[in-house]
Amino acid sequence: MHLISIDSLSDEQVGILLDTADLFSKGERNTAPGKLAGRTVFNLFYENSTRTAMSFAMAAARLQAEVLTLSVEHSSVKKGETLEDTARTLNAMGPDALVLRHRENGAASAVAALVDCPVINAGDGTNEHPTQALLDALTLRQHFGRLEGLTVAICGDVRHSRVARSNAKLLPRLGAKVRLAGPPALLPDEESVASIDQAIAGADAVMMLRVQRERLDEDLGDAPGEFLARYGLTPERLATAAPHAVVLHPGPMNRGVEIADSVADDPQRSLVLKQVANGVAVRMACLDLLVNGAS
Ligand code: NCD
Repeated sequence: MHLISIDSLSDEQVGILLDTADLFSKGERNTAPGKLAGRTVFNLFYENSTRTAMSFAMAAARLQAEVLTLSVEHSSVKKGETLEDTARTLNAMGPDALVLRHRENGAASAVAALVDCPVINAGDGTNEHPTQALLDALTLRQHFGRLEGLTVAICGDVRHSRVARSNAKLLPRLGAKVRLAGPPALLPDEESVASIDQAIAGADAVMMLRVQRERLDEDLGDAPGEFLARYGLTPERLATAAPHAVVLHPGPMNRGVEIADSVADDPQRSLVLKQVANGVAVRMACLDLLVNGAS
């Protein structure tokens, strides 16, 4: 079994992952001693990453797996090796799981077809980032005690966001309503979306997305502060959400662009660091399910 997309998971598997991750997140350091002892996880990140890469490494370490990280900058990728040849090469070493982040849509699925171990998609281009959606769902479920009936506004650079795409698949399956919104230039063509203000009004949770300048052909050309005022999550905009509304962001945050400092750091509203903590628990659950199977 691989975890390539939210669609890779049955409803039962989603339930198992969230329940297991919930237990891991509440336990002490060694809630699951030895679950992956003697196993080896390959971490393969072709795009920059702080939290996802470290989170997978931490999750594997907590389960007592060995984590080997390929430093792509120093690998044979730089000598022109294809992703397919890299996959076959690494597979010949017999890893127990392969975690892949790559700039191309479909990269994880292409690698999964070539290797003998489970592959976990840690983000493929603008396509999907399933473990991020799972950790977002867990964070919301822990905060509200349920997902059923929640309205979640996902705002910002939706066009380039694999996080938005995975969440737009997962959250409705769990009974939440998703409203996608962003500046016209950063919205996918096919989605019917609300304006930022319409999306946030009355929402239970607001998830802001980073403007992914590295994926933009041209700079947005906004004056400093203009993006925040027009499309960002300011305290004034957040005040139009439900009184109990919480704020999420997958990180890395562009402070002062899509999110105001005071909102990002609001101890009552911001769940950003809770998301990071839950990321480890969710990835522990994913590695456990994929490598050991459902127990
Ligand atoms: C996101 C990603 O890389 O898809 N970050 C993450 O994994 N937490 C979002 C982003 O880069 O903006």
